[in-house]
Amino acid sequence: MERDLLCFGPTEQAAQLEGSKNFAKRFLVRHGIPTADFRTFTDVLPAVQFLKTCRFPIVIKADGLAAGKGVIIAEDFTAAKQTVNDMIALGKFGDAGSCVVIEDFLQGVEASYICVVDGDQILPMAASQDHKAAFDGDTGPNTGGMGAYSPTPFVDSNVEERILDHVIRPTVQGLLNEGIHYTGFLYAGLMIDQAGNPKVLEFNCRFGDPETQPILFRMQSDLVEVTMAALAHRLDQVTALWDPRAALGVVVASKGYPGSYQTGAQIHGLKSADQENIKVFHAGTASGENEEAIVSGGRVLCVTALGENISVAQTNAYQAISKISMADMYYRKDIGQKALQELLD
Ligand code: AMP
Ligand code: GLY
Repeated sequence: MERDLLCFGPTEQAAQLEGSKNFAKRFLVRHGIPTADFRTFTDVLPAVQFLKTCRFPIVIKADGLAAGKGVIIAEDFTAAKQTVNDMIALGKFGDAGSCVVIEDFLQGVEASYICVVDGDQILPMAASQDHKAAFDGDTGPNTGGMGAYSPTPFVDSNVEERILDHVIRPTVQGLLNEGIHYTGFLYAGLMIDQAGNPKVLEFNCRFGDPETQPILFRMQSDLVEVTMAALAHRLDQVTALWDPRAALGVVVASKGYPGSYQTGAQIHGLKSADQENIKVFHAGTASGENEEAIVSGGRVLCVTALGENISVAQTNAYQAISKISMADMYYRKDIGQKALQELLD
């Protein structure tokens, strides 16, 4: 506020909800918000002792920011021990991994629930589902997200009410009780069990990538108006309207991501892919010598499509991707598949 600029986003203190898994877990417990049971360690030996008492799979998380890559699902004791050693002793994630959270593996379906928050006021965005694993069928290492769609059949009005009652409102109230006025997007990454009960996997203090792309494609209200309303503490006076159609985004990545990958390859076909109801969002791209787009990151593009329903949006997105080519290109072929299966059942 030194320069009297309007800033839409949480303070450094509040952003620890994303920046430290340990902080987030302790906050959740303090406020009775459902999440997986956990322990935190900063030394290898006690962590390994604890692992000897665990059931597998188990989830091991680097405490700090790791671009979505710091969460390992260890299938057995050997893999878990190795992960703890990599993080704490070998510093695989730098400082982010000097403290690890070890938590129970939760069963269910995931959903991303993002709200605009200003202090005590909450405006929910449309629910979505991300796909965190690198490869089809949720296999391979975790990434920042390989594709997302909205709306999701896993968050009906009943589940949404539970998310608001058991997660979002207690979080906002908990922040206020701790003297934190939270302004910005609050993203709850959730596991929803078979009975429709949500548990928090993580918080992000931002809109979420790639969830933002399909959500904004459906948003009919003006995002600037919404953020201005939040900053003026009159969120209760605005509504968010959504295109009833579905939107689905598929991330085009560089082979090797979330590990190391090559950069510099030219990207072809972007113009022919970008049609009505399709939007190609750039992420890891840069301008090459002749102004053409070249690869500069692991997640290169998010090809996002609207459609009458998830199935049509999925077809449209993959049709658009088929027009794009680049060296070492890879993407998941099953974005939205779980939703389609659910709708069939
Ligand atoms: P996070 O960054 O904490 O959301 O974790 C990244 C991804 O790891 C999540 O989106 C889930 O796919 C998976 N994950 C994290 N925590 C758990 C858990 N306790 N049980 C099962 N899967 C999890
Ligand atoms: N897609 C999850 C994130 O933005 O961290």
